[in-house]
Amino acid sequence: MRGVSLDPVRPFIKWAGGKQALVADLVGRFPERFERYFEPFLGGGSVFLSLRPPNAVLADQNRWLVDTYRAVRWSWRRVVAELEALPNTRRDYLQIRARDPWSLALAERAAQFIYLNKTGFRGLFRVNRAGRFNVPYGEYDRRTHDPDQLRDVARALRGVTLRCGDFESALSDVTARDFVYLDPPYVKQGGHADFNRYTADQFRQRDHERLAETCRELSARGVRWLLSQSDTETVRSLYEGFAMERVAARREINLNSRRRDVDELLIRSW
Ligand SMILES: C[S@@+](CC[C@H](N)C(=O)[O-])C[C@H]1O[C@@H](n2cnc3c(N)ncnc32)[C@H](O)[C@@H]1O
Repeated sequence: MRGVSLDPVRPFIKWAGGKQALVADLVGRFPERFERYFEPFLGGGSVFLSLRPPNAVLADQNRWLVDTYRAVRWSWRRVVAELEALPNTRRDYLQIRARDPWSLALAERAAQFIYLNKTGFRGLFRVNRAGRFNVPYGEYDRRTHDPDQLRDVARALRGVTLRCGDFESALSDVTARDFVYLDPPYVKQGGHADFNRYTADQFRQRDHERLAETCRELSARGVRWLLSQSDTETVRSLYEGFAMERVAARREINLNSRRRDVDELLIRSW
């Protein structure tokens, strides 16, 4: 089932590799009909929020991120109330950043996540070896949230299955009637490692190989999938044999240059 929405909900967080600019291109290439929509690298969720399929399984390895979606789904009003209590100054930022998210209630933890995402430097998510968030203050004079937007996201998430974990487990029960959109961390171009630092554990070469292997297994079981990646030799050889299409893309977040235009490869199983 396509279910493309004419009135897409905007993501409520800023996320490295966010697909906002590419959503129409992507969704236009999705199959007309499918039973469930799977997105195992959810991130900022721009594709899901644009498509808003009624039957979806959304997952990410970042537990704090997935908990934030859970909190918004079940108690967006509480998340808004918590956010209203978090002032946007450097001093407050450092205090809020220092709080252990795992000692907080779910709605407070979600508010902390959204606040840090909106006020931290360029919306980066970076943690140190101990798993502590360590992005510096960004000095943005902007609101951290829009209550109407969070309400719309909560509505879009109704009935959706949220999973936290590695992509393999997220896809454990996918069937040939379903469709999978995959937006994994990019294969590095030119050694800019920061793109990969979404979680304490980086997505390494062996993970890219494991993902390509998973995609081949999905194809063998008749599951349709579409994957976004950077257009590199490594990617082209990992997915050799599948249909590939190059599209122009712009990355929103890059520490090493102000803005970098790069090409993106869309790879699909059918
Ligand atoms: C490129 S981002 C997705 C961006 C998203 N499409 C958007 O529009 O915002 C990749 C996501 O994969 C997640 N991730 C990294 N390693 C993972 C793994 N092994 N399994 C599942 N998710 C993983 C990261 O936490 C990150 O949110």
